[in-house]
Amino acid sequence: MTQTTTTRDAISRNRVADFATTDGNRYWWHHRPECRYEPPVYSWLTDDEWVLFRQWFVESEAEFGTGTGECGVPPMSMLHGLIAGNGMTRVVQLGHYIGYSTILISLLMQRMGNGARLYSADIDPRATEFTQGWVDRFGTADVVDLQVTDSSDPAAVDRAREVFDGKDPQLVFIDSSHMYQHTLKELDLWYPALQDWGFIVLHDASTFAAEFDAKGGGGVKRAIDEWNLVAKDRIFTINSTFGETAAMGEDLAYVDGCGLGLLQKLPR
Ligand SMILES: C[S@@+](CC[C@H](N)C(=O)[O-])C[C@H]1O[C@@H](n2cnc3c(N)ncnc32)[C@H](O)[C@@H]1O
Repeated sequence: MTQTTTTRDAISRNRVADFATTDGNRYWWHHRPECRYEPPVYSWLTDDEWVLFRQWFVESEAEFGTGTGECGVPPMSMLHGLIAGNGMTRVVQLGHYIGYSTILISLLMQRMGNGARLYSADIDPRATEFTQGWVDRFGTADVVDLQVTDSSDPAAVDRAREVFDGKDPQLVFIDSSHMYQHTLKELDLWYPALQDWGFIVLHDASTFAAEFDAKGGGGVKRAIDEWNLVAKDRIFTINSTFGETAAMGEDLAYVDGCGLGLLQKLPR
């Protein structure tokens, strides 16, 4: 099988069964023999939401190709755990691309019914227009504010605070340029804006993912390493050395070799 289907027939059997044999790196998680089940980040979706989400896979692939721009099941599971496990109401995302994480976080927030809001910044107008179209189709526009902007622009912090009725973010998910200098700028900007006890989560934080730095500057990993030399609150990285000390096929416990950085801002 080489294509996803969007029929109700597919969901009645096992919503993700065919993803295991669907071509494309964006289905890598489902290709793993241990992962032939519906992950909780998908299983709580209603049938109608799931049909629409499958349609998102089909249309996003038709328009943007089969790349793996979205963060995928392991980081989404961590984010859903943090947000839904704690009733978080003020979440920032830096980099929404074509909507995967935005759709899943906004649906979750709407279900939580506690007034939670997502502010998301992305420099790409075309990706933002596509994501906004899907937010509208999912009916979550009331919980999401998408802006076309550089995520290291201080105006983005002001906008986020407006969206959060003047309050500070509780969680900032950094998944944007993957460039060393730009990631440091994001940390310098968003860390002071974060509420005490709040979190910053960084995707693509491993040695392997440092390749994603288009300027070859060392990526998120180098930014974290330098941040940790001087910062009061250090960043812990899952799978930090993947790419140096391990390669594809390794028996990882957290199966995304791109790694995930986690910082908590402690009060002073
Ligand atoms: C990996 S994708 C985000 C994926 C998304 N979080 C998801 O899981 O569905 C990275 C996004 O960051 C955006 N980006 C790159 N440089 C940026 C910058 N300087 N400011 C804001 N966004 C940027 C890109 O346009 C792209 O859409």
